[in-house]
Amino acid sequence: MSTAPKTPDTPTDDRLPVTLPALADKRERGEPIVMVTAYDFPSAQVAEVAGVDMVLVGDSGAMTVLGYDSTVPVSVDEMIVLARAVRRGLKTPFLVADLPFGSYEASDAQAIATAQRFVKEAGVDAIKLERGGVAVQRARAIVDAGIPVQGHVGLTPQTATALGGYRAQGRTAQRALDVTRDALDLQDAGCFSIVFEAIPAAVADAIMERMEVPVIGIGAGASTDGQVLVFHDLLGIYDGHSPRFAKRFASVKEEMVAGVRAYAEEVRAGTFPAAEHTYSIDPDELERYRATLVPPAGIAWGPGEEM
Ligand code: KIV
Repeated sequence: MSTAPKTPDTPTDDRLPVTLPALADKRERGEPIVMVTAYDFPSAQVAEVAGVDMVLVGDSGAMTVLGYDSTVPVSVDEMIVLARAVRRGLKTPFLVADLPFGSYEASDAQAIATAQRFVKEAGVDAIKLERGGVAVQRARAIVDAGIPVQGHVGLTPQTATALGGYRAQGRTAQRALDVTRDALDLQDAGCFSIVFEAIPAAVADAIMERMEVPVIGIGAGASTDGQVLVFHDLLGIYDGHSPRFAKRFASVKEEMVAGVRAYAEEVRAGTFPAAEHTYSIDPDELERYRATLVPPAGIAWGPGEEM
């Protein structure tokens, strides 16, 4: 393979790292905040070069890169491997990682210990957790322990079964109130930002009037302070179910398949590798080498000539 992966020279070379105050300032100025997920070194480099503000090591990586059916099975150890790779590819965007299902709900102590692993072992700037209810107390505990927390309300994939599947939330007055309460509770708990996922735009508009921290939307309309999309959805790499909000901005998987298919065809046709893909050896060295090779079967070596 190619060696020495480098963070490429980028138009972001003179950008300062994005901080919490910088995100709050953007919100104040009404400048949209751009967030994207990443799960490995190359996707992090893409996010860096593209100049996004925030990168999320989402537990969506359970499906997009680890091949699970949902976000539920992914472990803390698996998420930390992904987060460490992303950290190595980033210089400027603010880095958030999802605490996976089952790694923070049981107690404040469990939540703090898991969040600390992400900070110490993967170097993330903040963690994200899902839902209101007990997660509000866990968010408060993690914030009190000195780690910034992003909340996530509306469609919360870790508990999609309890929500009736992967479907928009807040579509009745009562459910809209539930989402509103979760968002405000998380804000009160000290979350620096909240993600709104798959809620009606009109409900998001109403909640936004009460929000004081940057809100990042995904399927929540245009009134939020920023947007997040899943890397594999927006680039057309993932073949699984794509929700209506997952606008595709490129068809990278088609390109990847075309590239691998062309390679396979050339190997089979004997046209790859060509002369320019091979290394040479000095003819004298080659001659010397050939002279010391094991002779073909049936021909004995002379004394002292064995290899
Ligand atoms: O895991 C994820 O990718 C997410 C985003 C959809 C916000 O939580």
